[in-house]
Amino acid sequence: MNIQVFAEVAELLEGLSEQLLAYSLRGQPKHIVLSGGSTPKRWFSYMASNAFAQEIEWANLHFWWGDERMVPASDVESNYGEAMRLLFDEVVIPESNLHPIHGDALVSEELLRLERETTPFLEPPYPESIFDWVILGVGEDGHTASLFPGKTDYEDQRTWVPAVHPQTLQNRISLSAKAISAASRVTYLAMGSGKSEVVDQVMSGADIDLPAARIAAYNGETEWYLDQSAYGLR
Ligand code: 6PG
Repeated sequence: MNIQVFAEVAELLEGLSEQLLAYSLRGQPKHIVLSGGSTPKRWFSYMASNAFAQEIEWANLHFWWGDERMVPASDVESNYGEAMRLLFDEVVIPESNLHPIHGDALVSEELLRLERETTPFLEPPYPESIFDWVILGVGEDGHTASLFPGKTDYEDQRTWVPAVHPQTLQNRISLSAKAISAASRVTYLAMGSGKSEVVDQVMSGADIDLPAARIAAYNGETEWYLDQSAYGLR
C-alpha cells in the first residue's frame, strides 16, 4: 500500500489533478471512478478554478461514480449532481463520457441499466475491469463507496450492488467490493483530523472488518492520499 501524505490540502489536490492530467494525455480512453461525499467536492472546485480545467484532455476521460444516493441529480445529496455543478458544467467534456448512476430511478431497474451500460466497455476477453482508476472516500466508520461495515458481501460477483445507509436508511447503489478490487488503481482520499482515527485503524494493518481496510486492488495499485491532519495519529 502506497501512502502519500501532503502537508496541505492544496498540495494534495494539485497532486491528484496532475495524476488526472497524466491519464488524459495518454491518448486513449481512461475510465475513472469518482467517489461521493464532501471530500472530492474540494477537488472538483479546485480543478474547475485553475489551469487544469483547460489542460486536462477531458474527451479522453470517462467518469463513473463509485456510489450514488438514490435521489434526483438536482438534490444536493446527489454525488453526480454535485460533480456536475462543481466541475463538469465548467469544462468541455462530451456528455457520453459521463456515466452517472440514475438516482431518480428504481434501484432494481437502475442496477439492470448499469450492467447494460458497463458491458459494452468490456473488450473481449472479459477483462478484470474497465476501471483504470477508482477514487474512494472513507467514512469515519470505515465504509467506502456505499459498502458499510458488517453489510458488505466481499464475494458478491456483481459490478453494481444495492445498499442502504445504516443510519439514514437512504437507498444507495454502489460498486461492489469485487468491482473496486479489480481496478488497475485504487486511491483512497482522506482529509482532515476527523478521519485520523479511521486512517490509523486502517494503517494499523490489523485484520479488521472495515471495507476501507479490506478493499484493495488485488492486481493493481492501492494507495492513500492524505493531508497531514488525516494522517495525524501515525
Ligand atoms: C458517499 C460516499 C462515501 C464517502 C464517505 C466519506 O456517497 O457518501 O461515496 O463513501 O466517500 O462517506 O465522505 P466525506 O468525504 O463526506 O467525509
